[in-house]
Formats: sequence, structure tokens, C-alpha cells
Amino acid sequence: MTFHSIEWQGDTLRLLDQRRLPHETVFIACTTASAVAEAIHTMTVRGAPAIGVAAAFGVVLAAYRGEDIPAAAALLRATRPTAVNLMWALDRMLAVTPRTPAALLDRAQQLYDADIAVNRRLGAQAQALIPDGAVAIHHCNTGALATVDYGTALGALRIAHEQGKRIHVYLDETRPRLQGAGLSAYELRAFGVPHTLIVDSAAAHVMRTRRVDFCIVGCDRVAANGDVANKIGTYALALAARAHGVPFYVACPLSTLDLATPDGSAIAIEERAATEITHVAGRLICPEDTPVFNPAFDITPAELVSAIITEQGIVRPPYGAELRSLLANQ
Ligand code: MRU
Repeated sequence: MTFHSIEWQGDTLRLLDQRRLPHETVFIACTTASAVAEAIHTMTVRGAPAIGVAAAFGVVLAAYRGEDIPAAAALLRATRPTAVNLMWALDRMLAVTPRTPAALLDRAQQLYDADIAVNRRLGAQAQALIPDGAVAIHHCNTGALATVDYGTALGALRIAHEQGKRIHVYLDETRPRLQGAGLSAYELRAFGVPHTLIVDSAAAHVMRTRRVDFCIVGCDRVAANGDVANKIGTYALALAARAHGVPFYVACPLSTLDLATPDGSAIAIEERAATEITHVAGRLICPEDTPVFNPAFDITPAELVSAIITEQGIVRPPYGAELRSLLANQ
């Protein structure tokens, strides 16, 4: 049993509308690059690897319609600024020569298949850090829905469960879009992985009052020095983990490494609409026109990250040289 949030059928990209989960399983059909761009921007499809692969098929759709490929790629690239997997996938599409529809479709399908294989390898690597009986805290959604299949951090926990390890996962709900509550709880229930939902602000209390062996999160971009951009709230979770002596692990494929960016201060942090905060289930929860600041991501400094788990191995601090050698040896 699994979820496929991205499906290519004939000449159509079908995307599972993640905004409607866990209540409704509805796919939207995209036949243009601009429809794919809109789906990424609205978070119909979300999660760094998933948006990269969806964008790749967006380029294929542009080719099918005879549109300008670099212009379509630029449109897709501008949808979400933080996840480097999006830029990585588009760069691989633009590198196809000649850019025929068939060759572009081949490349998009390779990216699709590679994502599944990479996540399985990453999940296998992570097992060295997940003992039988482990209790973890996880942030956002990094599972099958956020990728083509399996996922990164959540995929590693799922694989641990599949291997018979008796694990328990605290899922924080992940304000404001609630990917932890709506998506991760949905996935772990389907896979039978024992879990407990908490509000984001309960994480420190849980670490202080209950046993937690580690925190594990995904990632949208790793800078050359090991600073990590991930869903807003990751930094607070890492600070709480450090204060309680709890290891803090980041799981990501090599396509999330951005060694051209020296440190986290150079990573663009997406800001999203105020209504994500001012409204809950469509209802205003604060006085009208309340000023809002809504960064969708934050930077966790490398010194708070105990290890970065990739498909190629587990990297420990100091990260700079280790990350460079991972990429050189891939
Ligand atoms: O805004 P989202 O839901 O796309 O953010 C997702 C995350 O921050 C994930 O942790 C990250 O993309 C890794 S998903 C394997």
C-alpha cells in the first residue's frame, strides 16, 4: 500500500490534491506547464522532491504544446523559492539535448524513478540511527506524499516499522498548513506506524517529560556549511532538542544539497499569504487586518544538526568537506 501524489498518464499530469487530504482523495489533471506551476504555488502538490518531479513533467507538457521551454522552466522555477530540488530538477530538464517531447518525457520519467530508488536507499541508511523501540519527533510531512514514494524522514521511520522495529512517532501538526496533522498522520495511519499528534509548541514539553530518542525532519536546501532550510518550526524544534540533549537528524537526498550557497543566510525564505495564519478552516481567527509575518521556512544552523542522512551515507559535523566529498563521489 502506498500513495502516489504524482502520476503521468498519456499526456496528462495527475496530481493528488494534498490540500483536501485527509478527507478527500481528489486528483487534478494538468495539461499545461502553467497549470503545474499553479498547482505547485498553491501547494496542491508540495514537498521538495515532489515539486521537483512535478515541475519536470510541467516542462514535458510545455514541449507537447510547442511552448518555449526555457520560458516554461522559468515560470515553474518561480513558483516556490526555497526548495532547491525544484531548481535541480528543472536544470536537469534544460540539459536535455535536443529538447524533443520524447527526450524530455524520458528525462522526467528518469527523475520520477530515481526519486523512489533514492528514498529507499536513504531510508536504509537511516536505519543505523533508528534502534528498536525508538521514540521520535517528526515535523511537517516528508513521506510518500512529499516525494514520488517512500519519502525521506518519514520514509525512514516507515522502513523501520516495516523491518519490525517497534517505533513510536510524535507528529507535530506544523502550523500553519498542518502538514503534520493532515498528511503525516494520514500516512502513518495507513502504514500502521504507531504515532501521536501534538501541537508544535508541545514538542519541548514532550522532550522534557517523556522519552524522546531523536528528532528527524526533512529539508528543502542544505547550504555548503551544513545550515539547513526546512519548514517553519524546524529551528525551534532543533533548539529544543539541543536543550534536552536529543539528537536532531535531517534526512534528504543529494539533490537537496546546494553547495553553491555558502550558508543559510543566503537561502531565500518563501513568505506566504497572511490568510494562512489569520484563517483556520476558512474562518477568521484574529481581528481583521491584523498585521502578519508568515515565513514558510526557517534556517537551522549546522551546529544544531547532529547528522545529515542521505542515500549515499550519514554525514556528521563539521559538514563542509563531508558534503563536498559526498557530491563528488555520487
Ligand atoms: O511547504 P511544504 O509542505 O512543501 O514543505 C515541506 C517541507 O518542508 C519538507 O520538510 C521538505 O520539503 C522535505 S519533503 C521530503
